[in-house]
Amino acid sequence: MSDAVLSQFKQATTEEKVYDTDHKFKIAIIGTGWIAESHIQSYKNQPDVEIVAAADLIPGKAEKFMERFGVKGVRFYPSHKELIDNEPDLDGISICTYNTQHAAPAIYAMEHNIPVLLEKPFTVTLEEAEAVCAAEKASTAFISVGFQPRFDANMQMIKKIVDSGVLGKIYYIQTGGGRRRGIPGSTFIEKSTGGIGALGDIGCYSLDMVLNAIGYPKPLTVSGYVSDFFGKNPKYNGADAARFSVDDFAAAFVRLEGDIILDFRIAWAMHVNTPGDTIIFGTEGALRIPSTDCWNGSVGGAMTLYHDIAGQRFDTVIPILENKGAGLFDKKIRSFLDAIKTGGPAPVPTSQILYNQAIIDGINKSAACGREVEIKFAD
Ligand SMILES: NC(=O)c1ccc[n+]([C@@H]2O[C@H](COP(=O)([O-])OP(=O)(O)OC[C@H]3O[C@@H](n4cnc5c(N)ncnc54)[C@H](O)[C@@H]3O)[C@@H](O)[C@H]2O)c1
Repeated sequence: MSDAVLSQFKQATTEEKVYDTDHKFKIAIIGTGWIAESHIQSYKNQPDVEIVAAADLIPGKAEKFMERFGVKGVRFYPSHKELIDNEPDLDGISICTYNTQHAAPAIYAMEHNIPVLLEKPFTVTLEEAEAVCAAEKASTAFISVGFQPRFDANMQMIKKIVDSGVLGKIYYIQTGGGRRRGIPGSTFIEKSTGGIGALGDIGCYSLDMVLNAIGYPKPLTVSGYVSDFFGKNPKYNGADAARFSVDDFAAAFVRLEGDIILDFRIAWAMHVNTPGDTIIFGTEGALRIPSTDCWNGSVGGAMTLYHDIAGQRFDTVIPILENKGAGLFDKKIRSFLDAIKTGGPAPVPTSQILYNQAIIDGINKSAACGREVEIKFAD
């Protein structure tokens, strides 16, 4: 799985931009597991970055990681806390820890005014997300959440289509995706580390795709459902079934501000190839975005815009757009560095992703009590 996913990030490497290599960004990486590999590869592709520090809870892991990537002169620490306490001159931190360890390092970095690129999903709960946002507000630094699909030309086209007004007023969206079989292993599937399953891991991408396109309206209520029929069954999940303690499927009916309905479903495993395409319904047109296996948020084929022109119905096909220049991960890293230079704003701000997390959290809360819940924000 990891190679297939990572290979999507390995496109062209250098942009035709000139960077000030006299000033090198001093960067630290917290959590040196799988996704940190993409971060370090992309940092290495930048001419103006120096990796100065790394931390991992597992003794010796960060050292081996840096050795594997041929990065020398790095200072190592046993956790995010020691790293931040002892590195007063950092320009930025990549937080690549598992989901249940997103909030604490992000808050600690904000308290020390260090800009953060935080891996997705934002956090596990809404309460954690709000605590991170509060720390960020009190800080001079910013947090950008690691949604690399934001840099994909097709994702950007979805937003451009909505912004153009060709769909009219948006009133209903169905979105989601998933894999017929594709339950990850590692730290993704335990409550103590992953915290949430498919809902957070890939659900956050489907939500970001449509919520970003329509300007991230505030979520109001959620009726949600989660299940774990595949993850907990050794027939489908082998030996990992015994330790599986998160969801492998989630669905929800969400009301958003502006009288918009969001119908959502996401799966790490199911008995069907796809739970359906994403469709954005507007008063003047509709946009169909073919579903994918959904590993990291992508468009599964040519999109179709359904609309009337001069009283006649037309289907306009929007072919898959090629991504030019650097790969998506390089663009995510570069956008973070550029934002550090300008002091923000964050390329993918927490003010938006708070609403993404609120939906995920609302689905879990609604599923737990078996009825629709109101999403309540702290202020
Ligand atoms: N953007 C993407 O495409 C993408 C892809 C895969 C994973 N991710 C996200 O990246 C995150 C990490 O995933 P992974 O597969 O690399 O996990 P992983 O378990 O392989 O690595 C996480 C590492 O963080 C370390 N860690 C945890 N808490 C720590 C702390 N407080 N201080 C220092 N080290 C700490 C762990 O020991 C572990 O080595 C997850 O949130 C996941 O959702 C993003």
